Amino acid sequence: MNLQKPDQLTLPPAPPAAVNLYTPKNPFTATVVGRRRINDPSSPNFCWHVVLDIRGGQMEGRYRIGQSIGVVPEGRFNDPKFNVMNRSLDSKIRLYSIASACWGDDWRGETVSLCVKREVDENEETGELVFGAASNFICDAQLGDRMQITGPVGKSFLLPENPLPHHYVFVATGTGIAPFRGMLIELFNQGFAGEAWLIFGVPYSTEVMYDEEFRQWSQNHPNFHYRTAISREQRNREGGKLYVQHRLEEEEERLIPLLRRPETRLYLCGLKGMEFGIYKWLYRIDSGLLSLPPGMTVEAIQAMTRESPDWMKVEKARDKERLFKETY
Ligand code: A2P
Repeated sequence: MNLQKPDQLTLPPAPPAAVNLYTPKNPFTATVVGRRRINDPSSPNFCWHVVLDIRGGQMEGRYRIGQSIGVVPEGRFNDPKFNVMNRSLDSKIRLYSIASACWGDDWRGETVSLCVKREVDENEETGELVFGAASNFICDAQLGDRMQITGPVGKSFLLPENPLPHHYVFVATGTGIAPFRGMLIELFNQGFAGEAWLIFGVPYSTEVMYDEEFRQWSQNHPNFHYRTAISREQRNREGGKLYVQHRLEEEEERLIPLLRRPETRLYLCGLKGMEFGIYKWLYRIDSGLLSLPPGMTVEAIQAMTRESPDWMKVEKARDKERLFKETY
């Protein structure tokens, strides 16, 4: 896809965040108008970018990047006899972070895109393949297929109303990359001139989704810095797996002064586990993004394990105006 808007087009600013325009009782029927594999074809995992037509509905031009939409699995994925993971038909709807800018991939707000990885596993006892219901429903969908969607939901992982006078450090693991793709499209199509970093962690180099798009941004914009952390192929200084927090550490010289600036925002999206390493680093570098809970010292925090009862207090100590997270 062309990441830069057509020259003649004037894009409106992002709309106010609307929520729950569609609910499980009143879903919208969207149509699949685009689908492409976004991890390397040689990978045994399957990640798809799926574009949904939302024309004629209330969501058109009204969702914000950073929000999620719900998808209702149908067909064989809605059949309790079909082998699905985690008894995942319990609540039926699954939420997915939006991956397109508020203008959609069509620049007119008539589409919304998702980034979805097929969840596939084996039943430990029987060896049977088991499938995540919603992810496989979405990745199976062909052009022209219909899909019931709900939402949008979420108001806490958005770009600021005027996104330009800020700097950004985006950190993603796996499909947590979805919102950052849309955020970067929004920023660079509005003339963003601040500093933006994207640190992206995946297990193998075949799993770097949207890699070409991010490389293109970094070629065209010297103020965009793109780093990957390939956990099972690269090593950190201690010889262990290389995670996003190790990349942050490596770039400390540039990131410390940037993160200390009040106008810099840090966004984390993906595995909850990454918070542990990143928060410790943020304390170590005195980023100001986390306050010290009463009675705690930076040294005591460095010694904590994820199971420490006090870790809960650390989790809650973030500056909610500057550190945003969508972790699971
Ligand atoms: P690994 O699985 O090698 O331990 P995906 O969602 O596609 O599996 O990618 C998630 C990425 O996040 C993987 O590279 C995974 O590494 C990595 N990861 C797992 N645990 C943590 C953690 N505690 N901190 C940072 N990254 C993590």
